[in-house]
Amino acid sequence: MTPTLTAPRPAAPVPRETAVSFLRVLWELRQNPIAAFGARAYSLPQVHLKSRIRDFLLVNEPENIKHVLLDNVDNYIKSDQVQRLTKPALGNGLLNAEGASWRFQRRTAAPMFQMRHVASFAPVMAEAAAEMLARWDALPDGAHIDAADEMMRLTYDIICRTVFSGDVTMDYGRMSRAILVYLETLGRIDMLGLLGLPRWVPTPDRIRAAPALRYFRGEMEGLIERRKALIARDSGSAPNDLLTLLLTAHDPEGGALFSGREVFDNVMTFVFAGHETTANALAWTLYLLSQFPDADIQVAAEVFGVDDAAMMRGELPELPFTRAVLEESMRLYPPAPFVSREAVAADTVGGVAIRPRTSVLVSTWILHRHRLLWERPDEFDPGRFLPGRRESIHRFAYLPFGAGLRICIGMSFAMQEALLLLAAIMRRYRLELEPGHPVQPLARITLRPKNGLKMRLHRR
Ligand code: HEM
Repeated sequence: MTPTLTAPRPAAPVPRETAVSFLRVLWELRQNPIAAFGARAYSLPQVHLKSRIRDFLLVNEPENIKHVLLDNVDNYIKSDQVQRLTKPALGNGLLNAEGASWRFQRRTAAPMFQMRHVASFAPVMAEAAAEMLARWDALPDGAHIDAADEMMRLTYDIICRTVFSGDVTMDYGRMSRAILVYLETLGRIDMLGLLGLPRWVPTPDRIRAAPALRYFRGEMEGLIERRKALIARDSGSAPNDLLTLLLTAHDPEGGALFSGREVFDNVMTFVFAGHETTANALAWTLYLLSQFPDADIQVAAEVFGVDDAAMMRGELPELPFTRAVLEESMRLYPPAPFVSREAVAADTVGGVAIRPRTSVLVSTWILHRHRLLWERPDEFDPGRFLPGRRESIHRFAYLPFGAGLRICIGMSFAMQEALLLLAAIMRRYRLELEPGHPVQPLARITLRPKNGLKMRLHRR
């Protein structure tokens, strides 16, 4: 039986009880969107706001979420607000594409994320983890690290190895600084955008983000050109990674290849969507385990028996408790805290008539802590995800990877990676949160610890 794990309360902003002005909400959305919602949002099935610029609907009722993400999916496109955050970097890749372009890209990319390909990446993931642990092993016991940065470095290393077999001139330090600039400019809610300013107007955020974007583009273009030349010279010698798969994938319906632009946008999409999210999932899990010693011991006991050679082959046994901890961590700290859509035509959601262009928001942050859906919603209890209890969770109440046709294409990749890395770390180390370190979740497209995660490493 799993012990019920209660105190302490995992770090989260406390939703305010009183109403505030519209301008204040806009300001808070820009500072930290997860802190902008009042207590009512966590207890009502939905919140509908009408304004002269645009209507807004927050949906918390699982059946209504199913309506938006699955049953009437053609009526809900990616919202203007999300496109403003992600399009400058990711263009019209899978994450942002719509209609026929999205359908073509999704069916052509789907085979790359089938289990046989994902499983073939496991040894690369294990190897990257082993290299990080060798670096940690050289540190004295009790050494100080920033666990959030370490996880970012590790998942970036893995995405570079799995997308382009490590053929990359992009140095981690420069790349991570460029990502931070992007997240702190274009990755923040654009108040002028909310007020209706067209996307082409050069705002201070766009001007500040331009050098970071130029840097990513230059690096990626060079990389793709090198690979194209290699495939043209001798296709058999090209490494079996996601870039080769992108350059050679044929549409199962009609045989078309991705265009040069689509290859570029999807390389950017895989690199961005595929490392920050998993790094944050791991960082939050390490934080929670540092706060709940019973769970820490139970995970360590479960992964202790994993055979070294099997680990290097990426062959993990079933790890039900470790998986449950990871799932509970993504409930409390969903790496993608907002799934946002825009209604094309009028519709009715949960009895509410909505107009075309209404912003429809599913916030995994709010949904996963909703008072009507979860018992003790703000507490850490991995037992919720163990067989016997997990079955009672509504499919559309727990959405770390989204749902419906646009569910995360990298879900199996991410789950394999996160479990493997967590198992590798927990076998060897216990991480202690640096006393007094302020832990604060901050939403910038993904959900990261605002001040990093200062921790101490202890060998088991
Ligand atoms: C813990 C890790 C991850 C989380 C929590 C996550 C979360 C999500 C979510 C919530 C969506 C749906 C967005 C929406 O409906 O608007 C999504 C879509 C997507 N994700 Fe992930 N993701 C993760 C890892 C990855 C990885 C490793 C990759 C690729 C290597 C990836 C690539 C994508 C792509 C391409 C889409 C767009 C799919 C489409 O619209 O057809 N993600 N992800």
